[in-house]
Amino acid sequence: WVDQHFDRPLLGKKIMITAGGTKEAIDPVRYIGNHSSGKMGLALAKRAAQMGAQVALVYGNISVPVPKNSQISLYPVGDAAEMLAQVESLFPDSDALIMAAAVGDWRVKEKADHKLKKQPGVDELTLHFVKNPDILKTVAAQKDRQVVIGFAAETNDLLANAERKLREKGADFIVANDVSGDAFGGDYDQVTILEKEQDPVTWPRMTKDQVAKKLLTLLANRLEKPVR
Ligand code: CTP
Ligand code: CA
Repeated sequence: WVDQHFDRPLLGKKIMITAGGTKEAIDPVRYIGNHSSGKMGLALAKRAAQMGAQVALVYGNISVPVPKNSQISLYPVGDAAEMLAQVESLFPDSDALIMAAAVGDWRVKEKADHKLKKQPGVDELTLHFVKNPDILKTVAAQKDRQVVIGFAAETNDLLANAERKLREKGADFIVANDVSGDAFGGDYDQVTILEKEQDPVTWPRMTKDQVAKKLLTLLANRLEKPVR
């Protein structure tokens, strides 16, 4: 048992992971999206499965193939509202949630039910947006035993912004990610781990798969501890 536990520290755990970007519709043929590749979320899903977990992968728009693995259940979603509904429905049965998805912060206020056409003499278009619900914050408030991990993508003031997100969202950990360089779409990441009442810990630059492995080891140790 000891050996098995050493190899597969997430055995028997149910881990939900979100990945990729959401698509917010403008009309039936167009959407607002972002450059998220989904690589971090998918690296987490594959590693978590390897470490013994049952994985629920809730994913939006991704530019890498989804894993085929009997330990990973797939839940494709479109926009942020759909992602929220899927995450909320899986959360009570999960031991942990890792929000690696790049959720669209805004959606078009009135999406057209027909394709928007150009009009002669009209050279400008104005779209109005309304704020999307914060999925992480919403489900963190429904936490019983679950460990909740969020990401913070920042181009500046990394620590201050990430600390605010840790506080305001009610996450157990925030993985702060400097996206001013190559993080979006790249294979490498430089992250700082923030945890309540702990000093931030900066990890060296490493591949997304190495970040995934280290983060899941951290999670496995946390899940070992009895209910707080
Ligand atoms: N997140 C979420 N729901 C949203 C927006 C973000 O669950 N509507 C999650 C992301 O998946 C990530 C964390 O919150 O785990 C931080 O996302 P980020 O975009 O860095 O922060 P925001 O709170 O959206 O703030 P801003 O984009 O203004 O920096
Ligand atoms: Ca955001």
